[in-house]
Amino acid sequence: MPIEASQSPSLLIFGAGGHGRVVADALQQAHADWALVASDRNDQLCRGELLPGIPLAALSSLESQGGALHVAIGDNRARENESLLLGLRQLVSVIHPRASVSPHARVGEGCFVAAQAVIAPGVVLARSVIVNHCAVVDHDCKVGAFTHIAPGAVLGGGAHVGSRVLIGSGAVVLPGRLICDDAVIGSGAVVHHDIQQAGTYVGVPARSIS
Ligand SMILES: CC(C)(COP(=O)(O)OP(=O)(O)OC[C@H]1O[C@@H](n2cnc3c(N)ncnc32)[C@H](O)[C@@H]1OP(=O)(O)O)[C@@H](O)C(=O)NCCC(=O)NCCS
Repeated sequence: MPIEASQSPSLLIFGAGGHGRVVADALQQAHADWALVASDRNDQLCRGELLPGIPLAALSSLESQGGALHVAIGDNRARENESLLLGLRQLVSVIHPRASVSPHARVGEGCFVAAQAVIAPGVVLARSVIVNHCAVVDHDCKVGAFTHIAPGAVLGGGAHVGSRVLIGSGAVVLPGRLICDDAVIGSGAVVHHDIQQAGTYVGVPARSIS
């Protein structure tokens, strides 16, 4: 059973779907005073079972409490839209205690870095980027806002990835390649050439299917 949050948790996690529960799991290991908010704006944000012992706050606490917020929605568009709807709140980043984040990397507000992910020196993550379990973002990569690097994906050194991009699980982007805004890279793809047009790309080397 989820447990009730303290009256005013200092951090609210918005989204109780699969990704929200991954973020909650990270916080359970790292942070004491926070609560998860399940949305009823969109059923997909609160699918699945909540984890035992997860503090749960009411949706209304988003409006009534001015504290810090993390938007925990895996889908890039939905995360961007909800962040815009929530207005000018301070977005807090959540970094799993077993992630490796170089002190010479810059992590923008509202990012999530999962367990065993690696963020190397010189990396810049813009706003609300997800770097999921075991993903590697090698030195000097730039990653645009609301992008999701899925589990096990690898960005080679100096790669530039645009905003709202999905890099599917296990995909590899070769060093120095550019990927434009709104591209979707399928699971297991290898990006060998720059991706200059939004669309879906799969395979080795990655080719457009849209
Ligand atoms: C690339 C992707 C987005 C395509 O999804 P979709 O638009 O629904 O495409 P479909 O499943 O209809 O597949 C279209 C075609 O592409 C092929 N295809 C789909 N994904 C593929 C992949 N990753 N690698 C190779 N081929 C792929 C399908 O076999 C199908 O081929 P066909 O027309 O010859 O049968 C999806 O398959 C994918 O890889 N998503 C990433 C998932 C992920 O990592 N999420 C992160 C979770 S944390």
